[in-house]
Amino acid sequence: MRLYMAPLQSYTTAFYRKAHAITYGKMDKYFTPFFEAENKDLSVIINHSELSEFLNEGLNVVPQVACKDGSFLINFAKSVKDRGFDEINLNAGCPFPMLVKRQKGGGLLSSPDLMKKMLDDYFSVSTDVKLSIKMRLGQTNYSEGEVLMQMLNEYPIEEIIVHPRLVTQKYNGEVDWSQFEHLRTQSRHQLIANGDINSVNDAENLKKRFPDCIGLMLGRGLLSQPSLHQNIIGNNNHSNQLLELHQHYFELITSHYIDWNQAFNYLITFWHYPLQQSQTLKRHYRRLKKHNKADSYQIWLKELQAIYAGL
Ligand SMILES: Cc1cc2nc3c(=O)[nH]c(=O)nc-3n(C[C@H](O)[C@H](O)[C@H](O)COP(=O)(O)O)c2cc1C
Repeated sequence: MRLYMAPLQSYTTAFYRKAHAITYGKMDKYFTPFFEAENKDLSVIINHSELSEFLNEGLNVVPQVACKDGSFLINFAKSVKDRGFDEINLNAGCPFPMLVKRQKGGGLLSSPDLMKKMLDDYFSVSTDVKLSIKMRLGQTNYSEGEVLMQMLNEYPIEEIIVHPRLVTQKYNGEVDWSQFEHLRTQSRHQLIANGDINSVNDAENLKKRFPDCIGLMLGRGLLSQPSLHQNIIGNNNHSNQLLELHQHYFELITSHYIDWNQAFNYLITFWHYPLQQSQTLKRHYRRLKKHNKADSYQIWLKELQAIYAGL
């Protein structure tokens, strides 16, 4: 089964993906957090660090986009192709209210006509860029996801990643694997399961339950425990490498952002998920914001090393 890294805006940046791959080995695929049409013109997107040749070198990275019109999707595909990418991913699940209101991300789930038009436009021209979709079960109800899934059968979609929650659930409540199973029966495409896969056991259960599902996408579980993908494939030699991951990440960030304040914001984000694992770590994370100077950060880091050594 393939193992993918999920896109998480501000977390799974190109810096993180590279540092993670150096430390723990490559995953099968990575997705950039979404670029949004309208907000940025294409030249800004194309020169963004997310698509940097250096940071993405050797990794199977798929740029993700949140848009609602075919012409933007086509232009996005052509532009990223020039940068060496051969697949793009369309976001049909993000619950961010401003995006949903603009009928993008999760908002696409309740706009089947818009989606159909966009896909007709995209596949009417030859970009040579594969299109995959990342979707939820629906915006407000399951029938929206079923309509979309059936519609997608008409197009040569590369693969479909399903996060089995409704958009209105945001990240709360249970993921519904029964509805995922139902959608599977309706789709002729290859599906990837995503959502609350936080342990080897979670992954094993899904593998057993959905043997024809071609892969799992790991998000917050992987950020909390960055060796999770290695543990899933039975390789346990990579535990306790979090500080090494940090070192690679720190070097990449501080060489890209000369301004310490900017770099520090990335470091705060880096530690967010790993330091939710115990009360002691949570307490130490809360102290990080006060250690916002470069030398003070190193003191905080030494204390963290001591905490880990005592665990
Ligand atoms: C802070 C945050 C940012 C996210 N950003 C994106 C994004 O840019 N694109 C996307 O498709 N999903 C995004 N997601 C959703 C994740 O990719 C994933 O589908 C979701 O977290 C469920 O998987 P998990 O339980 O393994 O984390 C985001 C989730 C979180 C919590």
